[in-house]
Amino acid sequence: MYNSKIVGAGHYVPEKIVTNKDLEKIMDTSDEWIRERSGIEERRFAEMGVDTTANMGTKSAKIALERAGLTADDVDFIVFATLSPDYYFPGPGVTVQHELGCKRTVGALDVRNQCSGFIYSLSVADQFIKTGMYKTILVIGSELQSSGLDLTTRGRGVSVLFGDGAGAVVLQRTEEENKGILSTHMHSEGQFAELLCVKSPGNHTKEKFYKDMHEDYKNTSPQMDGQAVFKNAVVRFSQVIMEALKANNCAPADLDMFVPHQANLRITQFVQRKLQLPDNKVYSNIQKFGNTTAATIPIILSELWEKKGIKENDLFVLAAFGSGFTWASALIRW
Ligand code: COA
Repeated sequence: MYNSKIVGAGHYVPEKIVTNKDLEKIMDTSDEWIRERSGIEERRFAEMGVDTTANMGTKSAKIALERAGLTADDVDFIVFATLSPDYYFPGPGVTVQHELGCKRTVGALDVRNQCSGFIYSLSVADQFIKTGMYKTILVIGSELQSSGLDLTTRGRGVSVLFGDGAGAVVLQRTEEENKGILSTHMHSEGQFAELLCVKSPGNHTKEKFYKDMHEDYKNTSPQMDGQAVFKNAVVRFSQVIMEALKANNCAPADLDMFVPHQANLRITQFVQRKLQLPDNKVYSNIQKFGNTTAATIPIILSELWEKKGIKENDLFVLAAFGSGFTWASALIRW
């Protein structure tokens, strides 16, 4: 069996910055409320017709490949995580295969695990590499969420939290032992599916899908029971991190960096206290980008890559929780 290692990371965010003050102008909210509850100061919103979920993914993938010293022709497979695809079907993975100009008709898999989507995707890619089926896999998380948010006072409980952006990593086979992705851990609890979801269009009601799309417009924006999400998130984040550490005979004190999905700064701080991690071992950028769902973790990895914030042998834990509910972790030795 081989191991898989991240050999490049890139990200792309739309140019348009939307501050909390900008949101105050279009709904009944305040900079103070948003910062206090979530830590968010601003987020990026895509320009419709310019940015799409797929092309932001492609842009971040190009940077990741360049940093890895590879080209599109080295890519054996693409895994793309998003909850905000360009089309209801097909998923955006195939668009990346085209936009990258891959000479080969490599496979493209789309993963729908919302905020846990990037770690689920990383895990899938890791298995393909471990078995020797593929050598180089692009793993992408990208979201264009702003177009689906209810940006009125009615939707403020959800819409102030989310932003647009994309991140990608190149995962490659390594024969080094105890390096790269040490293990991944995934969970779900579907009884809570409707506590954080977009209901329509979908086949969950007796209404026809077509009717849903045209008449059930009130359900086409995300709905969330924020407090239930918060309570479950803090428990599951901690559990799944400890699961990854225990599986590798490690303890929180061994970690060099905790890379949490950027759901809410208060969730991150809660988990940080529980694991007794110092500030310099926890990465947060929710202040700048809000919650970009499947993209938060690869954006962080790319920022760390740019800042040369990753050293040989560093031990990282990635962890996420979100809609489903689903949650997941990955332990990485660089
Ligand atoms: N601006 C101003 N007021 C707002 C608001 C906004 N954007 N959104 C909600 N409010 C109001 C509510 O209407 C409510 O008013 P009321 O008491 O008069 O009814 C009040 O603020 C408190 O709302 P509540 O939902 O109890 O706030 P909260 O302390 O639970 O914080 C969240 C809300 C969403 C920030 C918090 O629950 C949370 O972070 N949950 C997890 C979210 C998450 O991580 N989601 C992504 C999963 S990956």
